[in-house]
Amino acid sequence: EVTIEAVPPQVAEDNNVLLLVHNLPLALGAFAWYKGNTTAIDKEIARFVPNSNMNFTGQAYSGREIIYSNGSLLFQMITMKDMGVYTLDMTDENYRRTQATVRFHVHQPVTQPFLQVTNTTVKELDSVTLTCLSNDIGANIQWLFNSQSLQLTERMTLSQNNSILRIDPIKREDAGEYQCEISNPVSVRRSNSIKLDIIFDPHHHHHH
Ligand SMILES: *[C@@H]1O[C@H](CO)[C@@H](O)[C@H](O)[C@H]1NC(C)=O
Ligand SMILES: *[C@@H]1O[C@H](CO)[C@@H](O)[C@H](O)[C@H]1NC(C)=O
Ligand SMILES: *[C@@H]1O[C@H](CO)[C@@H](O)[C@H](O)[C@H]1NC(C)=O
Ligand SMILES: *[C@@H]1O[C@H](CO)[C@@H](O)[C@H](O)[C@H]1NC(C)=O
Ligand SMILES: *[C@@H]1O[C@H](CO)[C@@H](O)[C@H](O)[C@H]1NC(C)=O
Repeated sequence: EVTIEAVPPQVAEDNNVLLLVHNLPLALGAFAWYKGNTTAIDKEIARFVPNSNMNFTGQAYSGREIIYSNGSLLFQMITMKDMGVYTLDMTDENYRRTQATVRFHVHQPVTQPFLQVTNTTVKELDSVTLTCLSNDIGANIQWLFNSQSLQLTERMTLSQNNSILRIDPIKREDAGEYQCEISNPVSVRRSNSIKLDIIFDPHHHHHH
């Protein structure tokens, strides 16, 4: 059975993706790639005829695709618009046609997030709110403390999809360098680092 694998399945914008065909039938009259889950004539990218070892381009050819004799399609300089489903149409020597499809995702690399804090100097047992500002909607947010993954305590709460870290009450052990990290399947960026100083407040009552 023919299967197609997108390598990589998550593509960074401006990179290449190879639509790798496994188990292409040996005796084919022709095979053709289409944009979309379709074999509509105007969606044909390129066609290959094994007997003559020749390729032909179709109406959906963008100038960035290369069709190989083993069935695979190399797609170069990927844009967001290229994301989606592609169809390989195979015609055997008896003119019987079968199709296989593949899908790939395209992502823009994330931009550097910016970390903000209400106050870098906090009195012990007061609270502090750190906000990770990012343009990348839907990206994953992680927190770092002294360059290590932040271990959440019961005094810490995350909200707004992890973009806001609140520590209440803050303790001396929370003093250090904070950063947030934004990632998606193709990229990762760390924010500026903020150093929190915790000062002892003799007016606060400690309960031990
Ligand atoms: C393409 O369409 C066929 C038939 O509707 C469906 O079985 C197949 O899952 C679709 N492929 C993709 C990648 O969506
Ligand atoms: C067709 O074949 C030529 C010669 O091998 C190659 O340079 C070209 O990139 C191929 N076109 C496509 C669309 O694969
Ligand atoms: C098909 O050819 C391309 C280009 O030479 C290569 O990168 C790819 O690995 C080949 N695919 C298979 C399944 O052999
Ligand atoms: C930050 O907190 C310190 C200690 O509580 C305080 O003295 C200072 O005025 C605060 N700064 C701002 C900008 O709120
Ligand atoms: C959290 O992320 C989801 C999915 O990306 C989004 O729909 C939602 O609006 C976000 N919520 C907030 C509060 O940012």
